[in-house]
Amino acid sequence: MKFFADTADIADITELAATGLLDGVTTNPSLIHKSGRKFVEVVAEICKLTDGPVSAEVVALDHPTMMKEAEILRKIADNVCIKVPLTIDGLKTCKALSDEGTMVNVTLCFSANQALLAAKAGATFISPFVGRHDDNGFDGMKLIEDIRLIYDNYAFETEILVASVRHPIHVLEAAKIGADVMTAPPAVIKALFNHVLTDKGIAGFLADWEKTGQTIV
Ligand code: G3P
Repeated sequence: MKFFADTADIADITELAATGLLDGVTTNPSLIHKSGRKFVEVVAEICKLTDGPVSAEVVALDHPTMMKEAEILRKIADNVCIKVPLTIDGLKTCKALSDEGTMVNVTLCFSANQALLAAKAGATFISPFVGRHDDNGFDGMKLIEDIRLIYDNYAFETEILVASVRHPIHVLEAAKIGADVMTAPPAVIKALFNHVLTDKGIAGFLADWEKTGQTIV
């Protein structure tokens, strides 16, 4: 499963990229606001930190203006992936851009039927929001299971990008289902490394090593 960082924070992206485990980045208008940076500038900077797809979201609601915004955003770098909302105009834009060979991430997906539409529109990625689904009393992971089944039934190449990931259990469940990608805030990705028994084990081994009086280097 590919790991994308759901952030526009340059320091966090730099730190995660250094692990060699970062496959891409997703941003959205809220994350750009949080960064306090100019949209085009921060996306350009992020695109230099990873070779993987960097999602940059259009904010227009109509197809012609979405296309104009996408035109500006895709010129930033070759690895920009245009993010569009799951609306009729968003999917018209998805079809037009994907026909031209531009990567498209269809966002704000909350049903398997919406995911089916996005795949038919040629989306590179579909972003079902599991956390917001759970928040509203729905089963986010059931949505991922349904999309996986439908995409496999028809051999759609659209990748399932699990979004709105809130904790490591979301990552675990998404991986068990066979989601292609998950995008999570840096804190959630960092939490994946942690286990109390790993820390305890290191402390025990180091205490015993100390007693040997040896060094390796
Ligand atoms: O980038 C979209 C998505 O990951 C948002 O997550 O936590 O705001 O629901 P959240």
